[in-house]
Amino acid sequence: MKISGKTHEGKVALVTGAAQGIGQAIAVALAERGAYVIATDLLVPLETLEKIGPSASGYQLDVTKEDDWQALALRTADLGGADIVVNNAGYFPNRPIDQLDLATWRKTITTNLDAHFLSVKTFLPGMRKKKWGRFIGISSNMVGLSIPGMSHYIATKMGIIGFMRGLANDVAGDGITANAVLPGLINTQATATQTDEMKRATWEQQAIKRLGEPKDITGAVLFLTSDDASFITGEALVVDGGQYRIG
Ligand SMILES: NC(=O)c1ccc[n+]([C@@H]2O[C@H](COP(=O)([O-])OP(=O)(O)OC[C@H]3O[C@@H](n4cnc5c(N)ncnc54)[C@H](O)[C@@H]3O)[C@@H](O)[C@H]2O)c1
Repeated sequence: MKISGKTHEGKVALVTGAAQGIGQAIAVALAERGAYVIATDLLVPLETLEKIGPSASGYQLDVTKEDDWQALALRTADLGGADIVVNNAGYFPNRPIDQLDLATWRKTITTNLDAHFLSVKTFLPGMRKKKWGRFIGISSNMVGLSIPGMSHYIATKMGIIGFMRGLANDVAGDGITANAVLPGLINTQATATQTDEMKRATWEQQAIKRLGEPKDITGAVLFLTSDDASFITGEALVVDGGQYRIG
């Protein structure tokens, strides 16, 4: 039996970093389930808009800039705000600690963490009025792996989990949930620089022995943003083919 249907009909879903990779797959999947999608990226994500068609609109949004968030809120006000916010945009250069400078540290923090705070300040009031809302933070299973050169990134991805946990406490009374999704290695432009051997070395550690694709992440996001997950909040859901398992 194939269960699908328009689980997200009537919802407005905002996705950051939606021009490619995981963000694009999430935007397309949310639209397929009936959501109206606000697709955003550093440049208007035209390819994603083309894939989705009329049930999406695209905007430029640098997630690190408070002014951009406020401008986006104004430009999308006629949609009634965002019911679902998926903070997916990320910055992840490899820098061993001896080469990590303050500018790279700060850019990683603002892109991967400030963005979540700014999205909440922008869209939480509207969710509270509707007594329904979903925040998803795209973290990473790297928080539990021994990968060198990623201390700044791992700090932010743990931070996302912490922020979702804390946020969950503050918003639960209004039917709003906040959860983190932790992908494993996924085949996107961001990981294209890795050799096939490097990728294979990762996926051979997984129970499911293949490289993850952007679409593999969408199911967790669809579930956590649906009414089926209304009693799940402050959680961190690992989606990595069974590479990282603890507890
Ligand atoms: N690919 C993986 O293996 C993997 C694994 C775990 C977690 N993740 C996380 O998933 C998310 C997406 O990863 P991806 O592989 O699809 O990356 P990607 O580089 O393919 O796409 C990221 C998108 O974010 C956008 N972006 C970057 N900085 C931005 C900013 N300041 N404002 C707005 N948009 C910005 C980029 O323009 C790009 O379109 C990231 O948060 C990443 O940390 C990825």
